[in-house]
Amino acid sequence: MASMIFSDCSSSTTAHLLPLDRMRTSVFGFRQSVSLHSRVKKFSLSFGTQRKHLSSTVTVAMATVTNANVIDGKSIAKQVRDEITSEISRMKSAINVVPGLAVILVGDRKDSSTYVRNKKKACEAVGINSYEVHLPEDSTESEVLKSILNFNDDPSVHGILVQLPLPSHMNEENVLNAVSIEKDVDGFHPLNIGRLAMRGREPLFVPCTPKGCIELLHRYGVEIKGKRAVVIGRSNIVGMPAALLLQREDATVSIVHSRTKNPDEITRQADIIISAVGQPNMVRGSWIKPGAVIIDVGINPVEDTKNPRGYRLVGDVCYEDACKIAAAVTPVPGGVGPMTIAMLLSNTLISAKRAHNFK
Ligand code: GUN
Repeated sequence: MASMIFSDCSSSTTAHLLPLDRMRTSVFGFRQSVSLHSRVKKFSLSFGTQRKHLSSTVTVAMATVTNANVIDGKSIAKQVRDEITSEISRMKSAINVVPGLAVILVGDRKDSSTYVRNKKKACEAVGINSYEVHLPEDSTESEVLKSILNFNDDPSVHGILVQLPLPSHMNEENVLNAVSIEKDVDGFHPLNIGRLAMRGREPLFVPCTPKGCIELLHRYGVEIKGKRAVVIGRSNIVGMPAALLLQREDATVSIVHSRTKNPDEITRQADIIISAVGQPNMVRGSWIKPGAVIIDVGINPVEDTKNPRGYRLVGDVCYEDACKIAAAVTPVPGGVGPMTIAMLLSNTLISAKRAHNFK
């Protein structure tokens, strides 16, 4: 997560939170709200084939109308968890197998402890058995490897996750390589990433956060094929696999990173933006093409004296600007965050099904 810095953007607009059953597919391929059509008729011009010819009207509309739909990750994640719950119960009834997820936490980082606690709670809620090993900060790498090897050999464990980051005295590559590729529900194993990158190959697991981003696009009916996509950030956990996934979905993909010249110009060409850099409000309105769909992975604390905690969370994208210009945007919090854990549960279920050849 980025260090706490103050970075704000204009705040006069909020997007519409739309229940999914009120959505229908627009000509753009995005499910647009019926109510939005009737309430803000002018803006419907920014969707579909006529857009090019009507740009001046759209500009006027954008200056005055709040238009973006909210991509509600919280509600989609709940749907996914419900689906997983019923699959787990079907599997238990049919073959008496319950999926199991093992989490290894090294040290006492507050954020990592919270993530692990949330993962455990989510497992319990859907009926996945969870196992946890918590090792002290000064553990040796071989102690971590020993725990991994134990879980690799345990048939009741279908998924193994080593919470990152590891303490700096450990070699992350050695540790992640030790996780059996069949149980690597994070999808971080280099062989798995290789398969994700290659045409005609299938990864065993799709990394959770990028998988959550694509799932949001799918469930909101956003067409990816043939679109221009920009991924901002090139981390192993999010940016790089997100770009590979978009490419697998037949998007034309550019990656913008810290050494990219004119990142705003490149990003402005995108129909779909996935941002995962950890820089609060970095993506401003001038970076966004009218009608783009924005998936904001950033979760950044910024100082907020009005908030009792003294800070609030914002994304990488200036939400207020995005609401005025984009077709749809994920909020922070409540966008991608809940999807990451839902996808971890999904990967654990996939692994258990595969291990037992359960369809
Ligand atoms: N730390 C931050 N995100 C992740 C993640 O997706 N998986 C693991 N293992 N550690 C993380």
